[in-house]
Amino acid sequence: MDKKALEALLNDMSTEEKVMQLVQIPGSEYEASAEITGIERGQVKDNVKKLAGSTLGIWGSKRLKKIQEKYIKEHPHHIPLMFMLDVIHGHKTVLPCPLGQGATFDPDTVRKGAEMQAQEAAADGVHATFSPMADLCRDARWGRIMESTGEDKILNSRMATAMVEGYQGDDLKDRNYIAACVKHYAAYGAAEGGRDYNNTELSEHTLREHYLRAYGEAIKKNPAMVMTSFNSINGIPATGNKFLMKKILREEFGFKGVLISDWGAVGEMINHGFAEDQRDAALKAMMAGVDIDMCSGCYSSSLEDLVNTGAVSVQMLDEAVLRVLNMKNDLGLFEDPYRGIDMDAGPVITGESRALAKEAVAASLVLLENKENTLPLRKEKNAFIGPYANNKKLQSSWAFSGEDENTVTVWEAALEAFDPESIKVSTGCTMLDQDTMTARGKRHVDNWEVENTKFMAEAVKAAEWADTVIMCLGEDFAQSGEATSKVSLKLPAVQLKLLNEIKKTGKRIVTLIFTGRPLELNEVRELSDALMICWLPGTEGGHGVMDVLLGKVSPSGRLPVSFPYTVGQEPLHYDMYPTGRPRPETGPSAFTSSYLDCENGALYPFGYGLSYTLFEFINPTLSAQKMSGSETITAYVTVRNTGAMKGSVTVQLYIRDVTSSRVRPVRELADFKKISLDPGAEEEVGFIINEEMLRFWTAEEKWESEAGKFLVWICNSSRDGQPLEFKLA
Ligand code: NOJ
Repeated sequence: MDKKALEALLNDMSTEEKVMQLVQIPGSEYEASAEITGIERGQVKDNVKKLAGSTLGIWGSKRLKKIQEKYIKEHPHHIPLMFMLDVIHGHKTVLPCPLGQGATFDPDTVRKGAEMQAQEAAADGVHATFSPMADLCRDARWGRIMESTGEDKILNSRMATAMVEGYQGDDLKDRNYIAACVKHYAAYGAAEGGRDYNNTELSEHTLREHYLRAYGEAIKKNPAMVMTSFNSINGIPATGNKFLMKKILREEFGFKGVLISDWGAVGEMINHGFAEDQRDAALKAMMAGVDIDMCSGCYSSSLEDLVNTGAVSVQMLDEAVLRVLNMKNDLGLFEDPYRGIDMDAGPVITGESRALAKEAVAASLVLLENKENTLPLRKEKNAFIGPYANNKKLQSSWAFSGEDENTVTVWEAALEAFDPESIKVSTGCTMLDQDTMTARGKRHVDNWEVENTKFMAEAVKAAEWADTVIMCLGEDFAQSGEATSKVSLKLPAVQLKLLNEIKKTGKRIVTLIFTGRPLELNEVRELSDALMICWLPGTEGGHGVMDVLLGKVSPSGRLPVSFPYTVGQEPLHYDMYPTGRPRPETGPSAFTSSYLDCENGALYPFGYGLSYTLFEFINPTLSAQKMSGSETITAYVTVRNTGAMKGSVTVQLYIRDVTSSRVRPVRELADFKKISLDPGAEEEVGFIINEEMLRFWTAEEKWESEAGKFLVWICNSSRDGQPLEFKLA
């Protein structure tokens, strides 16, 4: 439809019809089996159901075709309904959870993964996904850290950008792509105390320099939508926050697409104490520029009256509705309302999608310890022990359209790789302690003690038989994701007990940790000879893990988040500000900024990860020691694979602005490149440093760089390398 026809359509619509384009209702209104992803608020009225412009949580060609047919027939202008879904890290073929994708440090893999997700979801009739989540996360207590790509603005920017590109392709009309939604705008990851939905307090410079960056970068790729966040920022709920939505999002970032609230977030402004009632909440959300109200019912109950009484202008309403109609038009829905809904074919998992997923898994695994080259595994007697050894639940709570039966477990992959006589499997213990609260409610394990006594005895036997034990431990999939904040970052006690029991057998121990968040791994690392983070790896989890265990692929994942010594260090991040009394390198000393009972930094820092081979960073150099605003400097290093195996390494560039009008972090990631090298091979890696990369929110409240000295590290992790120096004139 051309612009004129779209405007003519808008002019012909009644106020009620217009308002309803801005209303999103749960898919459960159309189909009982729909996924409910928020608090239900009772049935919606018939007229709302007939006219609401979009819905979420349903997929599948047959179901959607039926719903769309009925809807279009009954709609006065036959405007198609838009179907949205949380396709977060996979639709049918499930990739590693976003935190695992962050660990790949490989935007190309992430882009290809998003493209595959789009193809699968589009073939199931989905028009838009609520992804990427560009929230910066420094707090492991917040369970949604699993849905982020980590604690760093540059890493998050690259990943969110790659996801938008992958989901949307070049043209949304192409039936292989779907609309992306950058969320949760803004700073949802900074919830106080790591408690989900909680208030955030952020200075403007921290907000702009760190928290807003990835949203801003992703928006440059024209995502169709942005979603508001649940939290308040500095006293104003994001969903009613004009500064965030009007000034920054629309004016500064130039976002032209549809702004959608999170589930119920418009109505929740009443609980926040920011709106009096539904009508007031609808008014405040409209004034802040929220186009679609996801499932709070405030727009459907009050917006028409707000327009009729002049509290919301017709022009404001029309602008919002036009953005929604434009999105439908960009998706080609007016020409083909059944886009992607094909009665015969739905998405299928293919050899190709499995291969992509397996590669992503292998690239996401982070090897933290490998004492005396415990890994790769030898072809001797190996016992796979633990609640993750043969567990199909390798995907997160957000991968609800992926089916468990398609998942390959670690044990299934072992059966393919080893002589069955040389391996054994044992559950070892229950996943959880006797009573545990999860995102899906309280879990009580019946017969807990009896079961665990039996499981552990079997496991000890298997360990005694083996030469090496591969402990498959971790958090349950329902312990990370939405509403899964925790104040303990330890493994369930029963799993730690199992590990201690197995240790007593004296066998070599490789510990695999399946998790959606950083955990406290002090005790685990002491008990293990090798330790590897596997995240929530998805459909091809078993195969990807096995490729690395066997040394078919050398591990190359890097931590996208700091793993703390203790939960007491949270929130924890590598790019902290200096203090006037820095802790001496030699350890804590009186009256310095130190903990009496712990290191300041992480047990395993951001950017850290081992490989089976060795990489030497030879002669890091800067092309010049001085730079004017219009010049650039290149930072070079030659990287040589001095080990015996092919491998990939992420070369990281960090910068510190030494003196400035507002203090700058001790170091900040400025760029990174992942390269692959054969044994003996070397490659020169160069990073261009320009003035733009040195800008920050100055004491004058301007986004500028300041002349002076800068330090540069070209290195292997956020804690590694020797600084070089240059001056900006
Ligand atoms: C609530 C979550 O916060 C958001 O991430 C999700 O996209 C929506 N519900 C829709 O399911």
